[in-house]
Amino acid sequence: MATRRIGIIVNGATGRMGYRQHLVRSLLAIQEQGGVEIAGGDRLLPDLLLVGRNEEKLRGVAEKHGLTAWTTDVDEALANPDYEVYFDALVTNLRVANLKKAIAAGKAIYTEKPTAETFEDALELAKLAKEAGVVNGVVHDKLYLPGLLKLRRLIDSGFFGEILSVRGEFGYWVYEGDWQSAQRPSWNYRSEDGGGIVADMFPHWNYVIEELFGRIEDVYAQTATHIGRRWDEQGEQYTATADDAAYGVFRLEGGTVVQMNSSWDVRVHRDELVEFQVDGTRGSAVVGLHGARVQPREATPKPVWNPDVKDPHDYRGDWIEVPDNAGPDGFDNGFKVQWEDFLAHYAEGREYPFDFLSGARGVRLAEAGLTSSAEGRRISLDPLTEV
Ligand SMILES: NC(=O)c1ccc[n+]([C@@H]2O[C@H](COP(=O)([O-])OP(=O)(O)OC[C@H]3O[C@@H](n4cnc5c(N)ncnc54)[C@H](O)[C@@H]3O)[C@@H](O)[C@H]2O)c1
Repeated sequence: MATRRIGIIVNGATGRMGYRQHLVRSLLAIQEQGGVEIAGGDRLLPDLLLVGRNEEKLRGVAEKHGLTAWTTDVDEALANPDYEVYFDALVTNLRVANLKKAIAAGKAIYTEKPTAETFEDALELAKLAKEAGVVNGVVHDKLYLPGLLKLRRLIDSGFFGEILSVRGEFGYWVYEGDWQSAQRPSWNYRSEDGGGIVADMFPHWNYVIEELFGRIEDVYAQTATHIGRRWDEQGEQYTATADDAAYGVFRLEGGTVVQMNSSWDVRVHRDELVEFQVDGTRGSAVVGLHGARVQPREATPKPVWNPDVKDPHDYRGDWIEVPDNAGPDGFDNGFKVQWEDFLAHYAEGREYPFDFLSGARGVRLAEAGLTSSAEGRRISLDPLTEV
């Protein structure tokens, strides 16, 4: 079997996501393992061209990993026919302009979410990509995480019976940046720079809910900017203009109700930074990024409400851990698995399901969430399966 080179432009290679998850944990890891196996047995070996705005930082990253191809000029990179795939992990508000250029250059495109800041732009991207006939994909990493893969298995096995409700809790304390530096970039807290937890997290909730539980028919959300003053990377105080918490209720086709709390202003009293509790007629599960526990109907206790006596029952002890059952090496990094999936689809000429249209539905959910909060009303969402 042959090994085929595949040229990939990595734009935003020095950013938090671009560097750690996409370059180091995915693309370099794929190189190290000798590429991605595709149908027929050939292997695709990524050959990378890094793009970034800061020459010094970019050179540093390239040298650290023994990479020689890099440029600060994205147009030059896109004009290079040796690189057929364009990947974008730039700050959100630069995405549309760069993706449009990549479409015009005829590249296959894989991009971080959200694909755009507005639904209108996201939909236009989906249309342009379709018209140009370029393969396109959007990061849907949560679906490839061990906890959600276990949840997928539970759903497919029929474990839940009818799924009644899902309650999700996402969040952790993001430092304000004054006496301890913030662990997220400051643009996340400025709406004028593409920030906000709704824009960041609702695109994730959209594909997670769609893929696992069904189409979202409507959304009601309450957003908040709980912390109005933060300190940036230079230690300068700034006004946080973007929402840093969102409390959303999503009604699905078929009747399931999903409630998601997303917040950068909560302290964690959970096993993981995100957890979903799924309650069905025949059983329930609590899943995180990695773990999953279940409680079938047959092993469900029968609590009786009595606030006068301290309840000695260990409710957490009733739950059963779901094993990995994932082979000797366990589950692989979710970002890497999705890269492999995207590259295989592209090389085999198959349509990629998590495309710009799916990305646009995610952006639409974020936009609808913000509108719902601003106007205090529930927003309906039509099926959006074609551009
Ligand atoms: N899939 C996920 O779980 C996940 C998690 C976090 C962020 N993201 C997404 O990834 C993207 C990047 O987020 P991040 O946290 O890595 O941000 P970051 O600020 O660390 O990185 C942003 C990148 O954009 C580049 N950039 C910024 N301004 C620029 C300019 N004017 N010109 C050229 N380049 C510029 C930076 O150099 C950097 O490479 C965002 O769109 C975000 O929504 C996805």
